[in-house]
Amino acid sequence: MKAIVCRELGPPSVLRLEEVPEPVMGPGQARVRIKAAGINFPDILTVAGQYQHKPDLPFIAGFETAGEVIEVAADVDGLSPGQRVMMRVRPGGFAEQAVVDADTLLPTPERFNDITAAAFIVGYATAYHCLLDRGELQAGQWALIHGASGGVGLPAVELAKLHGAKVIATGGDDGKLAKVAEYGADHVINYRRGGFRERVKELTGGRGADVVYDPVGGDVFDESLRCIAWRGRLLVVGFASGRIPELPLNRALLKGCAVIGCRAGEFRRQQPEAGAAMQQTLLELANQGKLHPHVSHVLPLERAVEGLTLLQDRQVVGKAVLTVP
Ligand SMILES: NC(=O)c1ccc[n+]([C@@H]2O[C@H](COP(=O)([O-])OP(=O)(O)OC[C@H]3O[C@@H](n4cnc5c(N)ncnc54)[C@H](OP(=O)(O)O)[C@@H]3O)[C@@H](O)[C@H]2O)c1
Repeated sequence: MKAIVCRELGPPSVLRLEEVPEPVMGPGQARVRIKAAGINFPDILTVAGQYQHKPDLPFIAGFETAGEVIEVAADVDGLSPGQRVMMRVRPGGFAEQAVVDADTLLPTPERFNDITAAAFIVGYATAYHCLLDRGELQAGQWALIHGASGGVGLPAVELAKLHGAKVIATGGDDGKLAKVAEYGADHVINYRRGGFRERVKELTGGRGADVVYDPVGGDVFDESLRCIAWRGRLLVVGFASGRIPELPLNRALLKGCAVIGCRAGEFRRQQPEAGAAMQQTLLELANQGKLHPHVSHVLPLERAVEGLTLLQDRQVVGKAVLTVP
């Protein structure tokens, strides 16, 4: 089968399209024909050797996929060839096929095509776990969402609005922020034009944001500590800016705020029942037509390097997705 293989760590350009053996299926597993694969920021970090998961070389890049079951192990019940599924396969998503434990497959919502399905679970599960589980965001509260046009940012805007929060969203590009406004943000701020601290204070009547969702880090984190509300929750989601900030504890003390590390994948591993319940909630919301994964770029599998480079260059709004013919 065809796959995008990483044989050495480095920028996305180290990736190559190769012919590799089909994966072998074992008990409890299913073989899935991958039709689409979402590109995530962690894919760039993994290929660079900078992510917490460090697969042995060589490995097939990519992990978020959607497709169709083609074969099921004899001991698996309730799953049959032809069923449309979404799955995380780490590593191994940028390929024609993958083999996974059957109980990790999620049924693709009827309303989603394969491209939308491949852009769903990582972004929405991250946003849901962070904002609602760790951040305890309540209706009527102010949510400040950074990197709002990104893969985990846009779902956060949609989920925060769905739960009745007032949303201030930030980003570095007016064109991308126009899409964020379409997703329901009450206010958008371009942080390339003089930061966001004063504007957030103004919009919240001096109070500051109750929940700050930060997948960017660096200066964005530093400035967030200066416009968070008393007893606010600052959610550490990621460091897309490339700088892991340091926390001046006097600021946390002054604001009486909590700084909370959030990891959606680890949440599912550590608390499988709660993780499964969250996924079920997201599937129900998707089936009700309340969630709309946005895909700005669709490219064929062989153009994976271009897809990852578009993400790295901040050209993507929502997600970029690879299609597998
Ligand atoms: N905690 C978790 O469970 C979890 C799960 C998934 C991902 N993450 C992390 O969350 C972060 C964002 O992931 P994502 O998939 O949303 O990425 P993304 O789609 O690339 O979005 C990141 C956003 O950050 C902004 N940004 C600011 N400075 C940037 C820079 N120097 N380079 C790139 N982007 C920059 C960009 O918006 P502007 O161009 O508008 O500034 C961009 O839209 C990553 O660090 C990722 O590892 C965490």
